[in-house]
Amino acid sequence: MDYMETMKARHAVRSFTDRKIEGKTLSDLQSIIEKINAASGLDMKLVLDEPEAFGGRSSRGFKNCRNYIVIGGKNGSNEKTGYYGEKAVLAAQALGLNSCWVEMSYSKGKVPVKLEPGYKIQAVIALGYGENQGVPHKSKTMEALSKVDGEAPDWFKKGMEAAMLAPTAMNQQKFSFALNGDKVSAKPGIGFYSKVDLGIAKAHFELGAGKDNFKWA
Ligand SMILES: Cc1cc2nc3c(=O)[nH]c(=O)nc-3n(C[C@H](O)[C@H](O)[C@H](O)COP(=O)(O)O)c2cc1C
Repeated sequence: MDYMETMKARHAVRSFTDRKIEGKTLSDLQSIIEKINAASGLDMKLVLDEPEAFGGRSSRGFKNCRNYIVIGGKNGSNEKTGYYGEKAVLAAQALGLNSCWVEMSYSKGKVPVKLEPGYKIQAVIALGYGENQGVPHKSKTMEALSKVDGEAPDWFKKGMEAAMLAPTAMNQQKFSFALNGDKVSAKPGIGFYSKVDLGIAKAHFELGAGKDNFKWA
């Protein structure tokens, strides 16, 4: 997967066609979810052909959303939810699917999954074949989102370019990254779901910067 191209191509999509997720796309998606669950300790579950959580064919800004990933996690797993959930989002994008992170625009009570004991729904990711590919979000500048003394190395700039492509709740982009030596620190800022947003932005930053070029502070 060319991660930069995948991150550039991904935009929130909220209107879906009737095309089902099936065949190799489905089996690939399922195996990615299994791997993410094993690596993260989260309990992600794929729900298919279930229109109720998104209120039938059209509701709360979504149209015909019948497939979604439920991310179950223990209390305090917000950042982890963002980090690993975004890996599923980018994998889905690379498989030709469209997606949208969702915290508010769905009925939690209508989600028909049983999570492991002690786990709660942390977020869902709407999935399917979009009626469109979405549009790029407006972004704050790199200077506004990061702090570096002197000239930033190339890998840091690439990391920031990737972080700026990250979806955030209401496009709030409250996160900030700072460079000290070869250590990068990242803060969530104050805002709704900003720790989930931070995890998403960190996943993007790593993919853009290259994991071997730095350490998290
Ligand atoms: C944690 C999180 C929660 C979100 N919750 C909702 C939601 O409840 N309803 C919705 O329509 N969009 C939701 N979004 C989608 C954002 O509005 C969207 O990602 C943002 O505007 C940036 O646009 P982009 O995804 O096209 O880059 C959420 C995004 C994130 C990251």
